[in-house]
Amino acid sequence: MAQILVSKAQHIRIAPLGAQHAPLYRALMLHAYQVAADAFTSTPQERAAEPLSWWVARIADPQGLSHVFGAFLDDELLGTVTLEFSAKPKTRHKAHLIGMFVAQAARGSGAGRALMQAAMRLAGDRPGVRVVTLTVTDGNTPAIALYESFGFQRFGLEPMAIATPQGFKAKVHMWCEMPLARAIGGAA
Ligand SMILES: CC(C)(COP(=O)(O)OP(=O)(O)OC[C@H]1O[C@@H](n2cnc3c(N)ncnc32)[C@H](O)[C@@H]1OP(=O)(O)O)[C@@H](O)C(=O)NCCC(=O)NCCS
Repeated sequence: MAQILVSKAQHIRIAPLGAQHAPLYRALMLHAYQVAADAFTSTPQERAAEPLSWWVARIADPQGLSHVFGAFLDDELLGTVTLEFSAKPKTRHKAHLIGMFVAQAARGSGAGRALMQAAMRLAGDRPGVRVVTLTVTDGNTPAIALYESFGFQRFGLEPMAIATPQGFKAKVHMWCEMPLARAIGGAA
């Protein structure tokens, strides 16, 4: 896979992804499952076997429940995050955040924070959404720090959540309550 290079001085743009981005999104996520294997529950092999229509369904969900944002440098997709809503009456007050990834060369330049801002703003704008949840592999300090800076709190630890070559790892479960009126921006 081509190496992704970025200068921190260059401007990164955050935009919602659409069906036309499916090949780019697929390539970035297959890269993510490879290089940040412990951060995800899927393997590159599993996801590589999915047809392009699976990726299109995630980023252009006809029901409007799945929303994917991309971090772009020009036309290059360097990062992404997904927010999933629920249609069920008893759970539609909750959104779930998945698939957060920023390519190594772009890290530390604010792309992760900008992606979180976009996702949290979308959650805050959706009528009735009061809670955002996520899970993160125990020990993933950069991701946990990022989520905590947006107000996420731990509410549980699932032992032996994923099998890795180094053994089982736990998943931290986090939640963030969305106040009815709130400025969303994290700590920065
Ligand atoms: C977690 C991740 C998305 C952060 O992306 P990023 O673009 O580097 O993040 P940013 O530059 O926007 O930094 C935002 C905040 O994240 C936290 N953070 C980022 N890198 C960090 C590090 N190395 N150590 C500690 N905290 C870190 C900080 O709170 C930082 O805020 P600050 O700059 O005000 O201190 C990125 O490291 C990544 O893709 N990791 C691999 C995949 C992954 O773990 N995904 C999460 C799945 S749950």
